[in-house]
Amino acid sequence: MTAVASAPGKVILFGEHFVLYGVKAVLCAIDRRITARSHAIGERLIRIKSSMGNAEFVPSSADIINAHPIFMRPFLTIAEQALREFGADGGIEMEFESEIPPGMGLGSSSAACVAAAASVAALFRKKTKDEILDMAIKSERTMFEDASGADSAVSTFGGLVTFSSEGREKIDYEDGLGLIIANSNQAHSTRELVLRVREFRSNNERLFAEMCDLEDRLVDEALTALRKNDLVTLGTLMSKNHEMLRRINVSTDVLDKLVAEACNTSYGAKLTGAGGGGCIIALVDESNTARTLETLKKISDCFVARIDLRGVCNE
Ligand code: PMV
Repeated sequence: MTAVASAPGKVILFGEHFVLYGVKAVLCAIDRRITARSHAIGERLIRIKSSMGNAEFVPSSADIINAHPIFMRPFLTIAEQALREFGADGGIEMEFESEIPPGMGLGSSSAACVAAAASVAALFRKKTKDEILDMAIKSERTMFEDASGADSAVSTFGGLVTFSSEGREKIDYEDGLGLIIANSNQAHSTRELVLRVREFRSNNERLFAEMCDLEDRLVDEALTALRKNDLVTLGTLMSKNHEMLRRINVSTDVLDKLVAEACNTSYGAKLTGAGGGGCIIALVDESNTARTLETLKKISDCFVARIDLRGVCNE
Protein backbone atom coordinates (compact mmCIF):
# COMPACT_ATOMS: atom_id res chain seq x y z
CA MET A 1 0.00 0.00 0.00
CA THR A 2 1.09 3.56 -0.72
CA ALA A 3 -0.21 6.77 0.87
CA VAL A 4 0.61 10.22 -0.48
CA ALA A 5 0.30 13.56 1.29
CA SER A 6 1.59 17.03 0.59
CA ALA A 7 1.97 20.13 2.72
CA PRO A 8 2.82 23.77 1.92
CA GLY A 9 5.81 25.86 2.86
CA LYS A 10 5.33 29.15 4.62
CA VAL A 11 6.56 32.64 5.19
CA ILE A 12 6.44 34.51 8.47
CA LEU A 13 4.74 37.86 7.94
CA PHE A 14 5.32 39.11 11.49
CA GLY A 15 6.81 38.05 14.80
CA GLU A 16 9.64 35.60 14.11
CA HIS A 17 12.00 35.22 17.07
CA PHE A 18 9.71 37.35 19.27
CA VAL A 19 7.23 34.45 19.14
CA LEU A 20 9.64 32.47 21.30
CA TYR A 21 9.17 35.11 24.02
CA GLY A 22 5.38 35.25 24.07
CA VAL A 23 4.60 37.56 21.12
CA LYS A 24 2.06 36.49 18.50
CA ALA A 25 3.51 35.60 15.09
CA VAL A 26 1.57 35.83 11.82
CA LEU A 27 2.35 33.18 9.25
CA CYS A 28 1.12 32.53 5.74
CA ALA A 29 1.16 29.19 3.88
CA ILE A 30 2.48 29.53 0.33
CA ASP A 31 1.77 27.70 -2.90
CA ARG A 32 5.00 25.66 -2.88
CA ARG A 33 4.64 22.15 -1.47
CA ILE A 34 6.50 19.07 -0.31
CA THR A 35 5.03 15.68 -1.18
CA ALA A 36 5.69 12.60 0.92
CA ARG A 37 4.99 9.11 -0.46
CA SER A 38 4.92 6.36 2.15
CA HIS A 39 4.90 2.68 1.22
CA ALA A 40 4.17 -0.19 3.57
CA ILE A 41 6.95 -2.75 2.98
CA GLY A 42 7.35 -6.35 4.10
CA GLU A 43 10.86 -5.92 5.53
CA ARG A 44 11.27 -4.72 9.13
CA LEU A 45 12.94 -1.51 8.02
CA ILE A 46 12.40 2.22 7.87
CA ARG A 47 13.88 3.64 4.69
CA ILE A 48 13.98 7.34 3.79
CA LYS A 49 14.78 8.60 0.30
CA SER A 50 15.15 12.30 -0.40
CA SER A 51 17.21 14.65 -2.53
CA MET A 52 19.18 15.50 0.64
CA GLY A 53 20.18 11.88 1.26
CA ASN A 54 18.96 8.44 2.19
CA ALA A 55 18.74 6.65 5.53
CA GLU A 56 17.74 3.21 6.67
CA PHE A 57 17.32 1.64 10.10
CA VAL A 58 15.68 -1.21 11.91
CA PRO A 59 12.89 0.20 14.09
CA SER A 60 13.85 -0.13 17.72
CA SER A 61 15.20 2.68 19.90
CA ALA A 62 15.51 6.45 19.89
CA ASP A 63 19.30 6.08 20.43
CA ILE A 64 19.60 4.54 16.98
CA ILE A 65 17.55 7.37 15.47
CA ASN A 66 20.03 9.83 16.98
CA ALA A 67 22.90 8.15 15.13
CA HIS A 68 21.40 9.36 11.83
CA PRO A 69 21.90 12.83 10.28
CA ILE A 70 19.83 15.34 12.19
CA PHE A 71 17.45 16.16 9.31
CA MET A 72 16.45 12.45 9.04
CA ARG A 73 15.43 12.12 12.68
CA PRO A 74 11.88 13.49 12.38
CA PHE A 75 10.97 11.06 9.58
CA LEU A 76 12.50 8.05 11.30
CA THR A 77 10.65 9.08 14.46
CA ILE A 78 7.31 9.45 12.66
CA ALA A 79 7.64 6.05 10.98
CA GLU A 80 8.88 4.34 14.14
CA GLN A 81 6.04 5.75 16.23
CA ALA A 82 3.41 4.79 13.66
CA LEU A 83 4.69 1.20 13.48
CA ARG A 84 4.57 1.05 17.27
CA GLU A 85 1.17 2.73 17.61
CA PHE A 86 -0.49 0.45 15.07
CA GLY A 87 1.44 -2.70 16.03
CA ALA A 88 2.57 -3.23 12.43
CA ASP A 89 5.00 -6.09 11.65
CA GLY A 90 6.56 -4.75 8.45
CA GLY A 91 8.31 -1.48 7.69
CA ILE A 92 7.87 1.83 5.89
CA GLU A 93 9.65 3.40 2.98
CA MET A 94 9.23 7.15 2.56
CA GLU A 95 10.16 9.33 -0.42
CA PHE A 96 10.00 13.10 -0.75
CA GLU A 97 9.62 15.54 -3.60
CA SER A 98 9.96 19.23 -2.91
CA GLU A 99 9.15 22.53 -4.58
CA ILE A 100 10.47 24.42 -1.53
CA PRO A 101 14.16 25.34 -1.47
CA PRO A 102 15.70 23.96 1.78
CA GLY A 103 17.42 26.08 4.42
CA MET A 104 15.86 29.32 3.19
CA GLY A 105 13.34 29.97 5.96
CA LEU A 106 10.42 28.84 3.79
CA GLY A 107 9.39 26.10 6.18
CA SER A 108 10.67 23.18 4.11
CA SER A 109 11.55 21.01 7.07
CA SER A 110 8.22 21.61 8.85
CA ALA A 111 6.30 20.97 5.63
CA ALA A 112 8.26 17.73 5.22
CA CYS A 113 7.36 16.70 8.80
CA VAL A 114 3.67 17.51 8.23
CA ALA A 115 3.54 15.70 4.87
CA ALA A 116 5.43 12.73 6.34
CA ALA A 117 3.09 12.52 9.34
CA ALA A 118 -0.02 12.67 7.12
CA SER A 119 1.24 10.09 4.62
CA VAL A 120 2.53 7.63 7.24
CA ALA A 121 -0.67 7.93 9.30
CA ALA A 122 -2.79 7.31 6.18
CA LEU A 123 -1.07 3.93 5.73
CA PHE A 124 -2.91 2.84 8.88
CA ARG A 125 -5.72 5.23 9.80
CA LYS A 126 -6.31 8.73 8.51
CA LYS A 127 -5.68 11.21 11.31
CA THR A 128 -7.27 14.60 11.96
CA LYS A 129 -5.28 17.73 11.18
CA ASP A 130 -4.79 18.30 14.91
CA GLU A 131 -3.33 14.81 15.30
CA ILE A 132 -1.07 15.31 12.28
CA LEU A 133 0.14 18.61 13.70
CA ASP A 134 0.89 16.95 17.02
CA MET A 135 2.95 14.20 15.30
CA ALA A 136 4.75 16.77 13.15
CA ILE A 137 5.70 19.04 16.06
CA LYS A 138 6.94 16.13 18.17
CA SER A 139 9.04 14.87 15.27
CA GLU A 140 10.37 18.33 14.46
CA ARG A 141 11.55 18.69 18.05
CA THR A 142 13.84 15.65 17.60
CA MET A 143 15.79 17.95 15.28
CA PHE A 144 15.34 21.26 17.07
CA GLU A 145 13.95 21.02 20.57
CA ASP A 146 13.06 24.73 20.80
CA ALA A 147 10.89 24.80 17.64
CA SER A 148 7.78 26.83 18.45
CA GLY A 149 5.59 24.69 16.20
CA ALA A 150 4.41 27.78 14.30
CA ASP A 151 5.70 26.53 10.92
CA SER A 152 4.06 23.15 11.29
CA ALA A 153 0.77 24.78 12.34
CA VAL A 154 0.50 26.93 9.22
CA SER A 155 1.64 24.08 6.99
CA THR A 156 -1.06 21.83 8.46
CA PHE A 157 -3.95 24.27 8.32
CA GLY A 158 -2.95 26.49 5.38
CA GLY A 159 -3.97 30.13 4.91
CA LEU A 160 -3.02 32.77 7.44
CA VAL A 161 -2.47 31.77 11.03
CA THR A 162 -1.52 33.57 14.23
CA PHE A 163 0.64 31.55 16.57
CA SER A 164 1.79 32.13 20.13
CA SER A 165 2.53 30.12 23.25
CA GLU A 166 -1.20 30.46 23.98
CA GLY A 167 -2.18 28.69 20.79
CA ARG A 168 -2.99 29.26 17.16
CA GLU A 169 -5.85 30.89 15.37
CA LYS A 170 -6.80 30.87 11.73
CA ILE A 171 -7.28 34.35 10.24
CA ASP A 172 -10.23 34.61 7.86
CA TYR A 173 -8.65 36.05 4.77
CA GLU A 174 -9.70 35.01 1.31
CA ASP A 175 -8.13 37.87 -0.66
CA GLY A 176 -5.16 37.20 -2.92
CA LEU A 177 -2.24 38.43 -0.85
CA GLY A 178 0.68 38.84 -3.30
CA LEU A 179 4.18 38.24 -2.07
CA ILE A 180 7.49 38.24 -3.86
CA ILE A 181 10.03 35.97 -2.25
CA ALA A 182 13.67 36.80 -2.96
CA ASN A 183 16.43 34.46 -1.95
CA SER A 184 19.66 35.83 -0.43
CA ASN A 185 21.37 32.54 -1.32
CA GLN A 186 22.90 32.64 2.15
CA ALA A 187 22.16 29.43 4.04
CA HIS A 188 21.32 29.85 7.70
CA SER A 189 20.88 27.77 10.82
CA THR A 190 17.67 28.54 12.73
CA ARG A 191 19.22 27.05 15.88
CA GLU A 192 22.23 29.43 15.76
CA LEU A 193 20.03 32.45 15.11
CA VAL A 194 17.72 31.54 17.99
CA LEU A 195 20.76 31.26 20.27
CA ARG A 196 22.04 34.62 19.01
CA VAL A 197 18.75 36.27 19.96
CA ARG A 198 18.76 34.54 23.33
CA GLU A 199 22.18 36.05 23.97
CA PHE A 200 21.03 39.48 22.79
CA ARG A 201 18.12 39.21 25.22
CA SER A 202 20.28 38.24 28.19
CA ASN A 203 22.63 41.17 27.47
CA ASN A 204 19.77 43.66 26.93
CA GLU A 205 16.93 42.50 29.15
CA ARG A 206 15.05 45.79 29.44
CA LEU A 207 15.46 46.74 25.82
CA PHE A 208 14.33 43.31 24.68
CA ALA A 209 11.21 43.46 26.89
CA GLU A 210 10.38 46.85 25.36
CA MET A 211 10.91 45.44 21.89
CA CYS A 212 8.53 42.56 22.63
CA ASP A 213 5.86 45.11 23.65
CA LEU A 214 6.52 47.05 20.46
CA GLU A 215 6.30 43.90 18.35
CA ASP A 216 3.04 42.97 20.09
CA ARG A 217 1.51 46.30 19.09
CA LEU A 218 2.88 46.00 15.57
CA VAL A 219 1.25 42.57 15.18
CA ASP A 220 -2.11 43.90 16.44
CA GLU A 221 -1.96 46.75 13.92
CA ALA A 222 -1.03 44.27 11.19
CA LEU A 223 -4.05 42.09 12.00
CA THR A 224 -6.31 45.15 11.74
CA ALA A 225 -4.73 46.10 8.40
CA LEU A 226 -5.19 42.52 7.14
CA ARG A 227 -8.88 42.57 8.07
CA LYS A 228 -9.31 45.79 6.08
CA ASN A 229 -7.05 44.49 3.27
CA ASP A 230 -5.08 47.72 3.76
CA LEU A 231 -1.89 46.82 1.89
CA VAL A 232 -0.25 50.22 2.39
CA THR A 233 -0.38 49.92 6.18
CA LEU A 234 0.47 46.22 6.10
CA GLY A 235 3.56 46.84 3.96
CA THR A 236 4.73 49.70 6.19
CA LEU A 237 4.39 47.42 9.22
CA MET A 238 6.39 44.69 7.47
CA SER A 239 9.22 47.15 6.87
CA LYS A 240 9.05 48.20 10.54
CA ASN A 241 9.25 44.54 11.53
CA HIS A 242 12.40 44.22 9.44
CA GLU A 243 13.93 47.07 11.46
CA MET A 244 13.13 45.21 14.68
CA LEU A 245 14.85 42.09 13.32
CA ARG A 246 17.86 44.17 12.33
CA ARG A 247 18.07 45.49 15.89
CA ILE A 248 18.27 41.97 17.32
CA ASN A 249 21.12 41.18 14.89
CA VAL A 250 19.48 38.59 12.66
CA SER A 251 19.64 40.48 9.37
CA THR A 252 22.59 40.54 6.98
CA ASP A 253 23.87 43.11 4.47
CA VAL A 254 22.44 41.03 1.62
CA LEU A 255 19.01 40.83 3.28
CA ASP A 256 19.06 44.57 4.05
CA LYS A 257 19.91 45.35 0.43
CA LEU A 258 17.12 43.12 -0.89
CA VAL A 259 14.66 44.75 1.51
CA ALA A 260 15.78 48.26 0.55
CA GLU A 261 15.45 47.52 -3.18
CA ALA A 262 12.08 45.84 -2.72
CA CYS A 263 10.77 48.80 -0.69
CA ASN A 264 11.29 51.14 -3.67
CA THR A 265 8.37 49.59 -5.55
CA SER A 266 6.46 47.26 -3.20
CA TYR A 267 4.23 48.11 -0.21
CA GLY A 268 6.95 46.95 2.17
CA ALA A 269 9.43 44.16 2.75
CA LYS A 270 11.21 42.21 5.45
CA LEU A 271 13.35 39.18 6.03
CA THR A 272 11.27 36.12 6.80
CA GLY A 273 12.09 33.31 9.22
CA ALA A 274 15.15 33.05 11.38
CA GLY A 275 17.30 35.44 9.28
CA GLY A 276 21.09 35.29 8.97
CA GLY A 277 20.35 34.51 5.31
CA GLY A 278 17.34 32.85 3.76
CA CYS A 279 14.70 34.97 2.08
CA ILE A 280 12.96 38.28 2.16
CA ILE A 281 9.31 38.86 1.32
CA ALA A 282 7.88 41.92 -0.38
CA LEU A 283 4.17 42.75 -0.32
CA VAL A 284 2.72 43.47 -3.76
CA ASP A 285 -0.48 43.49 -5.78
CA GLU A 286 -1.03 43.59 -9.54
CA SER A 287 -0.02 47.28 -9.65
CA ASN A 288 3.59 46.73 -8.53
CA THR A 289 4.42 43.02 -8.97
CA ALA A 290 6.16 43.36 -12.35
CA ARG A 291 8.31 46.35 -11.31
CA THR A 292 9.33 44.75 -8.02
CA LEU A 293 10.19 41.47 -9.73
CA GLU A 294 12.25 43.29 -12.34
CA THR A 295 14.31 45.08 -9.67
CA LEU A 296 14.83 42.02 -7.49
CA LYS A 297 15.64 39.71 -10.41
CA LYS A 298 18.76 41.79 -11.10
CA ILE A 299 20.18 40.87 -7.68
CA SER A 300 18.55 37.61 -6.58
CA ASP A 301 16.52 34.54 -7.42
CA CYS A 302 12.93 35.49 -6.80
CA PHE A 303 9.40 34.33 -7.46
CA VAL A 304 5.81 35.35 -6.83
CA ALA A 305 3.99 33.38 -4.14
CA ARG A 306 0.30 33.21 -3.33
CA ILE A 307 -1.46 32.03 -0.21
CA ASP A 308 -2.12 28.31 -0.01
CA LEU A 309 -5.54 27.81 1.54
CA ARG A 310 -5.50 24.01 1.62
CA GLY A 311 -2.81 23.09 4.15
CA VAL A 312 -1.91 19.42 4.38
CA CYS A 313 -3.75 17.17 1.88
CA ASN A 314 -3.86 13.45 1.33
CA GLU A 315 -3.89 12.59 -2.34
O1 PMV B 1 13.89 29.62 9.89
P1 PMV B 1 12.45 29.43 10.02
O2 PMV B 1 11.64 29.92 8.94
O3 PMV B 1 12.09 28.02 10.41
O4 PMV B 1 11.92 30.37 11.17
C1 PMV B 1 12.18 30.19 12.48
C2 PMV B 1 11.33 31.13 13.26
C3 PMV B 1 11.81 31.34 14.68
O5 PMV B 1 10.86 32.20 15.29
C4 PMV B 1 13.16 32.03 14.67
C5 PMV B 1 11.91 30.04 15.46
C6 PMV B 1 10.58 29.36 15.72
O6 PMV B 1 10.61 28.14 15.99
O7 PMV B 1 9.53 30.02 15.73
